[in-house]
Amino acid sequence: MYPHTFILLGASGDLAKKKIYPTIWYLYRDNLLPRTTKFVGYARTKQTLAEVREKCKKYMKVRPGEGNKFEQFWAANEYLSGSYDKRVDYEMLNQLISKFEKGPTANRIFYLAVPPSVFEDVTVNIKNACISIKGFTRVIIEKPFGRDDVSSDKLSNHLTGLFKEEQIYRIDHYLGKEMVQNLMTIRFANQIFNPAWNRENIASVLISFKEPFGTEGRGGYFDDFGIIRDVMQNHLLQILSLVAMEKPVTLNPNDIRDEKVKVLRHIQPIELKDILVGQYIGNPEGQGDEKLSYLDDPTVPKGSVTPTYALVALWINNARWQGVPFILRCGKALNERKAEVRVQYKDVPGDIFNGHAKRNELVIRVQPGEALYLKMMSKSPGMKFDLVETELDLTYSTRYREADVPDAYERLILDVFTGTQMHFVRNDELKEAWRIFTPVLNQLESDSIQPVPYVYGSRGPLEADKKLQDYDFKYSGIFNCVISRLH
Ligand code: BG6
Repeated sequence: MYPHTFILLGASGDLAKKKIYPTIWYLYRDNLLPRTTKFVGYARTKQTLAEVREKCKKYMKVRPGEGNKFEQFWAANEYLSGSYDKRVDYEMLNQLISKFEKGPTANRIFYLAVPPSVFEDVTVNIKNACISIKGFTRVIIEKPFGRDDVSSDKLSNHLTGLFKEEQIYRIDHYLGKEMVQNLMTIRFANQIFNPAWNRENIASVLISFKEPFGTEGRGGYFDDFGIIRDVMQNHLLQILSLVAMEKPVTLNPNDIRDEKVKVLRHIQPIELKDILVGQYIGNPEGQGDEKLSYLDDPTVPKGSVTPTYALVALWINNARWQGVPFILRCGKALNERKAEVRVQYKDVPGDIFNGHAKRNELVIRVQPGEALYLKMMSKSPGMKFDLVETELDLTYSTRYREADVPDAYERLILDVFTGTQMHFVRNDELKEAWRIFTPVLNQLESDSIQPVPYVYGSRGPLEADKKLQDYDFKYSGIFNCVISRLH
């Protein structure tokens, strides 16, 4: 096996300690990486590897019996401090990496966990001083990929000048989630869904993301972006493209991404009439942080109108979807943590049940607790001839008790080692995403549109329910068995 080096730039930052170090440890622990992989952390902070280890400690789970392996993992690690903008420091980095690259072939993966302000310097210096000369070089990058179409294009052009598209892995960690990956299988490996997956049968599609906490000191970053850029323009739009795209020619990553881009191209830029924005206010009866408004966060500028909640309807003008609202909804400081897709079918035509039949709904729950269930009507068991709403239920925790669903980051980082770009965002997808969102984002800012207040811990602005009705999404009942199992 050829040597691989995983270089983590920004190794002293939050993302590195909370997410990336734990992820590479789990991959190492489970013997999923090439045995000869070396890990090199690089950041401005002058510190020893022991200090890096100490900072990551509380985020890395080490189970009984894994102590030796954990020592081996750290023994395979190096740390080097250096600037982000001086070539000479990257030459030192290159020397350090080269030390472990004995033999004719050696591959390098760079993970950029660095702030956007140094992104250009870092990539130029990698290109100038750290490219592998006897194997592949891949770079993993994280959002923000700009904050509108212009800045994103600038960044893309910069990257295109340095690396080929096959070398660039743009992470959208939602593409690493089990149920998001399952969307293609559900749609294209089952004959029952596909014939009805269209405007003749589906009334609306709701894709939602809810989080029960606010910005928690991250307000400085968040305020410049807002929930639409933070979650909707990337995570939710990616889910939408997988729900709405046509069947790809093959499972080849570029065939899949071709279809994702195609469906995005059918979407018109969002209009102001199709958007509702909200911002959370404190709940005087709540506990701790719940008492605090978004504007109470000391890192948030006074009077900010940045949305922490948004509901948007997108329209796909193609033969399959014309007239079907795709509703994207996301918010922080809400009543629960949940991400799911609800495909709501139309009312049954020619009703013979006096209006008692409720709509079918296919629900794909991304988190928490992966599940797929189909809400349907059935005769109530027994003498009566009444209707009851019930579910065909595939809840993972009961159906796949032994299954070990990996974390999104683990899956995606492993994909980079194996060179699979299926679950990464291609340049043209990103461009389409910004085309759809930029005009309305500009308008929200230029007109200083006031977000509707909603209380921390609530379901969001009350106006959202009315909007859902307008977009032909009918809310009816709850999924009892899953809910009760979760509690
Ligand atoms: C990130 C956003 O991309 O996704 C965060 O920047 C958000 O604001 C997070 O909290 C949610 O990810 P997950 O995997 O916890 O649903």
